[in-house]
Amino acid sequence: MKIGPIKLDNITVLAPLAGITNLPLRIIAKESGCGLVCSEMISANGLIHKSVKTEKLLDSHPDEKPLSVQIFGSDPSIMAEAARIIEASGASILDINFGCSVRKVVRTGAGVALMRDPERAEAVITAVRKAVSIPFTIKIRTGWDKSGVQALELSKIAENCGVDALAIHPRTACQGFKGEADWELISTLKKSVSIPVIGNGDIVDPEDAIQMIKQTGCDAVMIGRAAIGNPWIFSQVSALMQGEEIQPIDLSRRFDSMIKYLEASVKYLGEKSACYMMRSRLGWFIKGLRSSSRCQKNHSGI
Ligand SMILES: Cc1cc2nc3c(=O)[nH]c(=O)nc-3n(C[C@H](O)[C@H](O)[C@H](O)COP(=O)(O)O)c2cc1C
Repeated sequence: MKIGPIKLDNITVLAPLAGITNLPLRIIAKESGCGLVCSEMISANGLIHKSVKTEKLLDSHPDEKPLSVQIFGSDPSIMAEAARIIEASGASILDINFGCSVRKVVRTGAGVALMRDPERAEAVITAVRKAVSIPFTIKIRTGWDKSGVQALELSKIAENCGVDALAIHPRTACQGFKGEADWELISTLKKSVSIPVIGNGDIVDPEDAIQMIKQTGCDAVMIGRAAIGNPWIFSQVSALMQGEEIQPIDLSRRFDSMIKYLEASVKYLGEKSACYMMRSRLGWFIKGLRSSSRCQKNHSGI
């Protein structure tokens, strides 16, 4: 699977998850066999106004490359300027968010709001394509109704404007994360464009990933919620793809990842902030195990 000239080691992608996929978590995902990691969504406005908090989201490390950095916004010139900043920061791939349905974002005309404004969406894509030479992708939803017409229209626009690949989370704007992801739309999209299509939505275990590839013909799979505290899902998908059996994740491997995540977080955030953050996060790695809820309670009460 290639995105522009970048060849992925395998076809698994860590979805962008705001507040979650920071540098330490991406490093863990990469170490666990993920083919491509994505940053949290970053405000184009925040970047061009040099917000310190926003700029921190651009922090990266060679070990996680290739890294896709995602921006959101709706003004073509601001998006182009932000894209240049991202290219200069060393990102491997630039991604635009056309899927966020959070009210605060939609109100500004960004995220999924752009899917009902194809002219503006095209202006944004054209301006960004002109601004950068690194590979450029978009992440979309179904659109504002179930038909998927807006997804198909935007995908065509993207393809014609030189976008290198697209990811689709086939839920409507109003669905948020409720209901089922419509994998049929991934198949339809795959048949209608020639750029690589990354399928996303409702992969909860490695078998689902294989099923999505078989059912839709997508070129790669993007995993979000199921990878939280479960980075091993990436190597498990690769194992299944090669016809190997999936190995259960034993406790020592889990603790190993927890320690690495803690250490990477201390490096990134400093000890105090990292330990504070870890109180709610380390529990993710033992979810579902016997007595894990007791451990999670103890952690958050430190
Ligand atoms: C907590 C959370 C944060 C998210 N943040 C982003 C984001 O920053 N950018 C984006 O494009 N999608 C974001 N999403 C959507 C995911 O990338 C993904 O499309 C969605 O969760 C469906 O995939 P899944 O079923 O594998 O989780 C977020 C989802 C969740 C649950």
